[in-house]
Amino acid sequence: MLIAQISDLHVTLPGQLAYGIFDTAGNLSGCLAQIMQANPVPDVVLATGDLVETGAPDEYRRLRELLAPLTMPLYLIPGNHDDRAALCAAFRDHAYLPREGEPLRYAVEDFEVRLIALDTMIPGADGGTLDDAQLDWFDATLSAAPGRPTLVLMHHPPFKTGIRCMDEIALDAASACRLGAIVERHRHVERIVCGHVHRGIQARWRGTAVSVCPSTAFQYILDLRENGFNSSTREPPAYQAHFWNGAELVTHTIAVTR
Ligand SMILES: [Fe+2]
Repeated sequence: MLIAQISDLHVTLPGQLAYGIFDTAGNLSGCLAQIMQANPVPDVVLATGDLVETGAPDEYRRLRELLAPLTMPLYLIPGNHDDRAALCAAFRDHAYLPREGEPLRYAVEDFEVRLIALDTMIPGADGGTLDDAQLDWFDATLSAAPGRPTLVLMHHPPFKTGIRCMDEIALDAASACRLGAIVERHRHVERIVCGHVHRGIQARWRGTAVSVCPSTAFQYILDLRENGFNSSTREPPAYQAHFWNGAELVTHTIAVTR
């Protein structure tokens, strides 16, 4: 099974550049063309949040048009730039999405690797959280299929990356603590895949592996100083391919060159 992950798409309205600089729609189109020309083509694509820049309905309409070249199943989760209601309205035919107004969490049973999506967004805030109801659902969902390798997707990483500006808007500590306690009890969690940081990052965390996917739009600079600040770099857009070899989930990072 081959899982492509795209993250932090930050799609804007036509004619607009994100932060006045980045052609995020053009970069996404290049990435998707590259995914569709890969050999083999991935079985599924995951988009791990910050799908659009401001959460406006017209941005989701454009996102939908941009995603049209994908022929495989596509699963979306929101990030801090997203708007749940606008996302659900634009992707009403995505039957896995819960009803409007609820956290966009779900499980996908159709593949060799089970997929569990968590929704960490807080409307109007940059940081992330997981409330008790969602964590209880996560625990029960993991318990329902203890023998199946499972990939968890969520926007905010649960650990400190060392990049101060992003760590200040990370998943809150209480949520990360409880999430970690659940993951430690479920050894079939092969991986948690995230976005948010706009860099490729890996860590061992609470008995599983966690990876952060680079952005299809733009990357942030690696600044690990205590007083470091946030700025973009000229590193290229990228995506990741998670290959299940029957025993391990192996991750490849692919720069977008189109
Ligand atoms: Fe982002």
